[in-house]
Amino acid sequence: MGRRVNMDSLGLFVLLIPTFFHWTAAASADEINWSYSGFAGQSEWSAYFPDCGGTSQSPVDVITTQTKYDPSLMPVTPLGYSQHGNRPFSMHNNGHTVIVELPEWMGLGGLPWFFTAVQLHLHWGNEGPDVGGSEHTVNGRSSDAELHVVHYNAELYPNMSAAMTQRDGLAVLGILIETGEETNPGFNNILNYMSRIRHADQKAFIPAFDVQSLLPKDLGRYYRYNGSLTTPPCYQSVIWTVFHERVQISKAQLLKMEMMLYSSKVQEVDRMLLQDNFRKTQPLNHRIIFASFSAESGRELSSGEVTAIVIGVMCGCVGVAVIIRFIVKTIRTKETEKSQEIKSDLALTITSKAERKEESSPSPQTEP
Ligand SMILES: *[C@@H]1O[C@H](CO)[C@@H](O)[C@H](O)[C@H]1NC(C)=O
Ligand SMILES: *[C@@H]1O[C@H](CO)[C@@H](O)[C@H](O)[C@H]1NC(C)=O
Repeated sequence: MGRRVNMDSLGLFVLLIPTFFHWTAAASADEINWSYSGFAGQSEWSAYFPDCGGTSQSPVDVITTQTKYDPSLMPVTPLGYSQHGNRPFSMHNNGHTVIVELPEWMGLGGLPWFFTAVQLHLHWGNEGPDVGGSEHTVNGRSSDAELHVVHYNAELYPNMSAAMTQRDGLAVLGILIETGEETNPGFNNILNYMSRIRHADQKAFIPAFDVQSLLPKDLGRYYRYNGSLTTPPCYQSVIWTVFHERVQISKAQLLKMEMMLYSSKVQEVDRMLLQDNFRKTQPLNHRIIFASFSAESGRELSSGEVTAIVIGVMCGCVGVAVIIRFIVKTIRTKETEKSQEIKSDLALTITSKAERKEESSPSPQTEP
């Protein structure tokens, strides 16, 4: 009897060992306070989150000459983005970014499945314009910041947590943000309230707003590839759409984004500004980036090419003007010559007719 109990408890113990280890491993991965640089920085993510070392990671550098034009890629269609209703949106600082939760009636069409909106968040740099901050890059060039709108596949999966680990589980819109002269009122719907969530784990309700006002106008031209979450646990479950058109915010707006939040909690003595929360671009590893538009029409021209084209067009115009002038002149001289000829012809005809008349109608006087 006693022996049997021992056997049973041993069995139970053996059964518990993997469970226990599994549990501790999971807990350590969840509790690890990952960061972008330094301790548990991005080069170490894969030690704690194995998927971060996978072969289909995001972000990537889009080399436009190596993208493949796919004419079957239709414009993506935001659904209900502008029907925000009156219920406030929830916004929080998770220590890595600012997250705005989106109502479940917002969604995304134009993909093989219907996707339901979950949240949007931002990535940025630290010193104002032109020093990077975006996650995706185009031909090696960074933008100043990047907006991500996250959706899950509501046709295949019951919720975000079920979808986020599965292939085709998520669809994320990537919007590259540049600094320009004008204030972008759409982004003030977020930026004006960030002072309420300066510390990690703080949360605020903000007035609902038109989420489509954050997107570029041209939703037809974009890059599409299969990738991952750009933060741990880096699940390779994302159908990415990175728009060709960038959106603009003012320098003051960019600085607000970069200077407002802390990655540290309110009770922590050492305040840490939340900056440079972008991941380095990851190897493509034989993946293809598809473009919804043909590379030639969407190709950006260098300033040299623009100068060449302008000079070429100007020379062309001058040339055409000279030729037209020459032709007009020639026609005019020919016309005057011709009209003179016609006039003299006419004169001749008249005179000859008159002569003929004289000849054919014998004068009555000569008739006896
Ligand atoms: C998500 O769906 C799965 C599978 O149906 C379920 O087990 C889980 O509880 C759901 N999670 C949430 C947060 O609703
Ligand atoms: C992404 O992966 C799926 C499944 O493997 C594949 O059918 C699809 O064509 C891929 N899409 C892109 C844009 O590479």
